[in-house]
Amino acid sequence: MSRQLIVAGNWKMNTNLKEGIKLAKGVSKKTKPSDPLVIMAAPATHLHAVAEVVKDIPGIQVAAQNCSQELSGAYTGEISVGMIKAIGAKYVILGHSERRQYFKEGNALLAKKVKTVLDNSLLPIFCCGEPLAVRKAGNHARHVSKQLREGLFHLSKKDFAKVVIAYEPIWAIGTGVTASPEQAQEMHDKIRKMIVRKYGDKIADNTTILYGGSVKPANAKVLFSQPDVDGGLVGGASLKADDFVKIIKAR
Ligand code: 13P
Repeated sequence: MSRQLIVAGNWKMNTNLKEGIKLAKGVSKKTKPSDPLVIMAAPATHLHAVAEVVKDIPGIQVAAQNCSQELSGAYTGEISVGMIKAIGAKYVILGHSERRQYFKEGNALLAKKVKTVLDNSLLPIFCCGEPLAVRKAGNHARHVSKQLREGLFHLSKKDFAKVVIAYEPIWAIGTGVTASPEQAQEMHDKIRKMIVRKYGDKIADNTTILYGGSVKPANAKVLFSQPDVDGGLVGGASLKADDFVKIIKAR
């Protein structure tokens, strides 16, 4: 799979079904085939309906925000890869910092989830990123390297080539404090070099690395024009069709 420009919206736990369908329709109406690939990560209760809205639009895909590492069974409240695939979603966000922080998902669990997703023909959007204290101590590259080594680097070359990475510094998520284009580029370059060391130049060059953390219409263009920033994973600004469309068209 080659490096692809992607703008993904992570709706998190926002919108009811009616609002979600309206948002999906609003975005669909304004996207063109020449735009980056658009992914909408809707809440699980909306996935089927949102997938129906976008099913005939080749440039838009749907993502789940999480999934179980188990295939089926007595796991109350969980959602399986089979369920996600059956409603027409193609991607699953894994390892978002909110899942790591509030639901204690660690790298070992995420390594299993990544494998389950790939083994069942879905594609992971694997999130990584450091908290503020780690950034202040200058240990951000080490922190992200550990997340990649323990959460992703068990994959074969063939599987790794299907992964999308999202670098989301925690201090930039929902805070309005965006990483500067230089900070984003520096970390994306480091991530690509980590991939070079593990999987070689070709795979690293083809890996899509998204930036996430207070991406807005006003800063998307400068962030996305960095050579190693291949688009964004957008939270708050993906909840307004007009703002999200501006971000999609920013580059
Ligand atoms: P915000 O764009 O609201 O900062 O959220 C980013 C994010 O967490 C996307 O996954």
